[in-house]
Amino acid sequence: MNIPLNTLPSPCFVLDEKILLWNLDVLEEVRDRAGITIIPALKGFAMWKTFPEIKKRFQGAAVSSLHETLLCKDELGVKSFAYAPVYKEVEIDTILKLSSHISFNSLGQWELFREKLHRFPDVSAGIRVNPGFSPVETDLYNPCVDGSRLGVSFDALNDAMPEGLEGIHIHSLCESGFDHLAELITIIEKKGKKFLSQIKWLNLGGGHLMTRSGYDKEGLINLLKRLKLNYDIEIILEPGSAFAWRAGYLVATVLDIVEHTGIQTAMLDTSFAAHMPDCLEMPYQPDVIGATKGSGNYQYRLGGNSCLAGDYIGMYGFEAPLKVGDKLVFGDMMHYTMVKTNHFNGVAHPSIGILHTNGEFELWREFGYEDYKNRLS
Ligand SMILES: Cc1ncc(COP(=O)(O)O)c(C=O)c1O
Repeated sequence: MNIPLNTLPSPCFVLDEKILLWNLDVLEEVRDRAGITIIPALKGFAMWKTFPEIKKRFQGAAVSSLHETLLCKDELGVKSFAYAPVYKEVEIDTILKLSSHISFNSLGQWELFREKLHRFPDVSAGIRVNPGFSPVETDLYNPCVDGSRLGVSFDALNDAMPEGLEGIHIHSLCESGFDHLAELITIIEKKGKKFLSQIKWLNLGGGHLMTRSGYDKEGLINLLKRLKLNYDIEIILEPGSAFAWRAGYLVATVLDIVEHTGIQTAMLDTSFAAHMPDCLEMPYQPDVIGATKGSGNYQYRLGGNSCLAGDYIGMYGFEAPLKVGDKLVFGDMMHYTMVKTNHFNGVAHPSIGILHTNGEFELWREFGYEDYKNRLS
């Protein structure tokens, strides 16, 4: 990776095309060898200028709202696999028209909209099941937390799938390895075996980080093959993070260095709260190229440019003192960043560009005052 830092606008999200293509290769290999369906979840990665490459290889996308459904139609040119925690009467017809599959979050929503399915006979309907198991330790990201509002239990289905429902949708992993999927499948087969012979498709959601180095790809392929064969069903995976894993950066500039009670903070032209919200929500400390987390000769917190008191991450250690004008490169900034950014404090939204495989940078989008103003009225 050789980013032409001095010619880039700052802040800027930079997609690394080489890594995206590598990720797509892995996802395609798993799909083809296991004989399953893999589609990108737009909630995690929706950088639509990359979609021409994605649509050459993948048919469909997992969408979670009307707007993602429309983006799927406009930029991928295919029908969606829809799942939203709740659908609105005024939106459901358009979603059904543009979807091949739809999953309902509750039996109540299924009952409310099931009549409409008669007008859309090509849409296959399913129900989201909460298997009561998730390896995710942070409650904010744990779909199976006590009192979860996501999905129904297997028990709620009684003995047979409700008439008209053809699929089961289960999402309970997050950046998970194969071991957690294997555990999940054991639980599904224990609690829900009888339903697996009654359905046409099983959507195992996202969270399958098969593009992370060390992921047990062979284990995954073998397990998926077995499931497909044993139950004679279509297996669907809808990862978001795996598509864009490590496929890009956020480049920022140091604007000031401040010091308080012995802690030095490098003030940046980007914001954790507005541009990298998962750093605060999960929370996690992102990699910064050339810096070590925690230790190092010259230690700094990195501060965002919003006035939220907690808009900082740190500490980081650098080889040399930071100075105004230095560029910093945050790693792994493609999934769940651009899709979650906001205009808090009116801070400038990062530009968006791509580092092509030949090393050339292409600027795709800059944002200005009108983008901020148009979100308000
Ligand atoms: C229903 C559903 N499907 C797919 C995904 C994508 O998950 P990931 O990006 O972790 O692969 C999510 C993420 O929250 C989800 O809620």
